[in-house]
Amino acid sequence: MHFQLTDDQKLIQDTAREFAQNELAPLAGKFDEEQRFPSEIVGRLAELGFMGMFVPEEFGGAGTDNLSYIIAVEEISRVCASTGVIVSVNNSLVCHPLLKFGSDEQKRRVLTPLAKGQKLGAYSLTEPGSGSDAASLRTVAVKKGDRYVLNGRKCFVTNGPNADFVLIFATIDPTKRSKGICCFIVEKGMKGFSVGTIEKKMGIRAALSCELVLDDVEVPAANLLGEEGQGFKVAMNTLDGGRNGIAAQALGIAQASLDASVRYAKERVQFGKPIAEFQAVQWMLADMKTSIDAARLLTYRAAVSKETQEYYGLETAEAKLFASHVAVDCAIKAVQIHGGAGYMHDHPVERFMRDSKITELYEGTSEIQRLVIANNVLKAAAK
Ligand code: CAA
Repeated sequence: MHFQLTDDQKLIQDTAREFAQNELAPLAGKFDEEQRFPSEIVGRLAELGFMGMFVPEEFGGAGTDNLSYIIAVEEISRVCASTGVIVSVNNSLVCHPLLKFGSDEQKRRVLTPLAKGQKLGAYSLTEPGSGSDAASLRTVAVKKGDRYVLNGRKCFVTNGPNADFVLIFATIDPTKRSKGICCFIVEKGMKGFSVGTIEKKMGIRAALSCELVLDDVEVPAANLLGEEGQGFKVAMNTLDGGRNGIAAQALGIAQASLDASVRYAKERVQFGKPIAEFQAVQWMLADMKTSIDAARLLTYRAAVSKETQEYYGLETAEAKLFASHVAVDCAIKAVQIHGGAGYMHDHPVERFMRDSKITELYEGTSEIQRLVIANNVLKAAAK
C-alpha cells in the first residue's frame, strides 16, 4: 500500500506547511512560555478553512477529505503541537459528532459557526473519578419538561476555557453505565456553567485545559446530541476519529524532532568534525526516520479507513499507539543529539519532548489503545 497524494492534498499540505513555518513558528515558543491561547493564529486558521476541514461547505466547512485534514494537523503540529490539538479537537471531537449525530437544526446553529472557525468547540468526557473507565462518569442529567438539568464537575477539558460550545457527557442513570450516558451541547454563558481551575501542564501549554463546573445548568432538549442513552456511542465513535488526529499530532512532533536533529548534527562540531559523521548519531537519525515513516503509513491508512469503513477504531488505535510512542522516542533522541543544549529552554527540542508525552495519555492512554486493539483481534479470531 502506498499513498500518492492528490493535487488537492498536496496543496493543503503546502498551505499548512507554509502557514506553520511563516506565521506560527516565530510565535510557538512564546505561546508555550506564556501558556497563552493562540487566538490570532486560530483566527488565521479559520480564514484558511482549517477549523472544519472535512465538514461539507453547506455547513461552513472546507469540504476536504479526511486525509487532507490529518496532513494539516501533522504540518501544524510539526511547528506547534498546542495549535495542532486545538485544531484536532475542533475538527475531530466536535465537528465530527455534530455532523454524524446532529439534527439539521444543530448543524445549522452549532456546527456551521464551529466549522467556519467563528466559534470554538470542546469535548468533555473526563471527570476526576472517571478517566480510562469513561462509562463510570457521574455528571448527572435530570429531565424536567423540555430541559435537562446538569450537575457535576469535568476535568482536563482541552479548549475548555476558550470554547463557545462544549459537548458534555452526562448520565441520566449511573447504574446503567454506558447505556445511561447522553451527550449535551452546552453553551458558554448558560447559567450555572463555569470554568474552574485552568491546569498548569508539562507540555502543550498553549492549548488550555481546565475543569468545567455544572451547577444546575438548564440545557434545552434541543441541545441533546443523538438520542437519550446513545451518548457513550457518540463518545466512542468520536474518539475513534480523534485518535487519528492525535496520531497526526504525534507524527508532527516526531518529524520536527528529526528535522531539528539533522540540522544540529550537521552544524555541531566535536572532535574536529560535525557530530553527524559519528555513527552513534547516524543510528539515532536512522531509527527516527524509519519509525516516523512507519507511523505515517499507519496514520494515513487510518485516515483513509474513516472514509472507506463503517468501523475504523482499530486502525486509529493502532496509529495512535504507534505514533505516540514514536513521538516520545524521537523527541528524547533529539534532546540526546543536542546534548546539554537540548535541555535548555532556548532550543525547541526541549518543548517537543514535553509536548510529546501527552500523545500517549489523552484520547485514551496507550494501555487503552492496546485494549481496543486486543478486543478487535480476539473478536476477529472468534469468528
Ligand atoms: N464505537 C461505537 N460504539 C462503541 C465503541 C465504538 N468505538 N466502543 C464501544 N462501543 C459500544 C459497545 O458496542 C457497547 O455497546 P452495547 O452495550 O450496545 O454492546 C458500549 O459502547 C459499551 O462498550 P464497552 O463495554 O466496550 O465499554 P467499556 O466500559 O468496557 O469501555 C473503553 C471501553 C474502550 C475502555 C472506553 O471506556 C474508553 O475508550 N476509555 C478511554 C476514554 C478516553 O479515551 N478518554 C479520553 C478523554 S477525551 C480527551 O482526552 C480529549 C482531549 O483532551 C484532547
